[in-house]
Amino acid sequence: MAEKQYNPYSFAFINLRNMKHNLMRIRSLVKRNTKILIPVKSNAYGCGIVGVSKYLENIGIDYLGVAFPHEGIRLRKEKIRAPILIFNEVIHEDDYSRIIKNNLTPTVCMISSLKKFNQLGKRNNKKINIHINIDTGMGRMGIAFKEIFNFIRTVYSMENIVLEGIYTHLSSADEKDRRFTLAQLKEFDSIAVFLKQQKLKIPYLHVLNSAGIMNYSQYHYDMVRPGIMLYGYFPDNRIRKSIGLKPCMDLKSCIVSVKKHRKNTPVGYGHTYYTRRSEVIASISCGYGDGINRLLSGRGYVLFQDMKCLIRGRICMDQIMVNMNSLSDPVLGDMVTIFGRDKKKLIRLEHAAEELKTVPYEILCQIGERVKRIYIE
Ligand SMILES: Cc1ncc(COP(=O)(O)O)c(C=O)c1O
Repeated sequence: MAEKQYNPYSFAFINLRNMKHNLMRIRSLVKRNTKILIPVKSNAYGCGIVGVSKYLENIGIDYLGVAFPHEGIRLRKEKIRAPILIFNEVIHEDDYSRIIKNNLTPTVCMISSLKKFNQLGKRNNKKINIHINIDTGMGRMGIAFKEIFNFIRTVYSMENIVLEGIYTHLSSADEKDRRFTLAQLKEFDSIAVFLKQQKLKIPYLHVLNSAGIMNYSQYHYDMVRPGIMLYGYFPDNRIRKSIGLKPCMDLKSCIVSVKKHRKNTPVGYGHTYYTRRSEVIASISCGYGDGINRLLSGRGYVLFQDMKCLIRGRICMDQIMVNMNSLSDPVLGDMVTIFGRDKKKLIRLEHAAEELKTVPYEILCQIGERVKRIYIE
């Protein structure tokens, strides 16, 4: 067997042209002057928080969103200047000053946090922009709807706080039954009406995530927050629509061993698989340590030369063993596709998620640090 240059690593190829295309698709679904906030939390849905944020800033994104202060601080260290909203309420004492120092925008839903930011603002002679998250039915974080009106009044009584945004998060915008989402939107709208009546002009009212943009785009308000659709995927397989999204990631890894086993040879931990005949088994340099779900053991497949190669035995931390019987000359270092596009064939992330009874988000977010992200412009 000819030996190519050996490369034992795994790669997530991130297609930035596709990302830009998806951004344009998003723009086409909402009103022209609607701002766009892109969530880049959880390592930009596995696509690499720094690489993706730099690219988005270059193409003029309006806002970035992260879950935690440290994610925003990392971006500031990388000289990213775009506004960054932190979705989670601040809990750690040190984070208050870090947020101010790094010019991040916190979400504030507790009076105690509001007071701390106001005091720090005074001390630093700074006005602190904040957003308020209202819980209209997600049952997660956010201020209760009935408390919002008082909360807004308190915010306006604080000299060093600027109310830059108010938002809520939709829990069920991908469900067929629209009633719950419409009730959430109605509650949010009553706040918009209240603000108008009080002549309070807040720059960013925002609600819509990807499923919201797909199904309720008329509620775009001032800004939308699409995550998964920017990366080219649907929130789940049931609401795949023909809106022309292009997947951004191809996850690939190299063949690091090729063995011709006799019939009845055990493969992998626990010997859950014995070859049924003479079989070519290739080991791929990728495993659950890289975020490949072990539940795909004995069930999933990878693509090589556009052919399906079934996973044999249990997925290991660093390798997956696959059958390559029908293929000519698999060579060490050749790349197989774990999901995404091979040559002409594609393993659709939404299908892989369905197989695992999960959502595309989880598969993307689990792709480990060892996988090198390569950006293609
Ligand atoms: C507050 C908030 N907004 C927007 C999003 C983006 O959601 P999606 O990726 O479904 O568009 C998320 C993701 O979880 C979120 O937490």
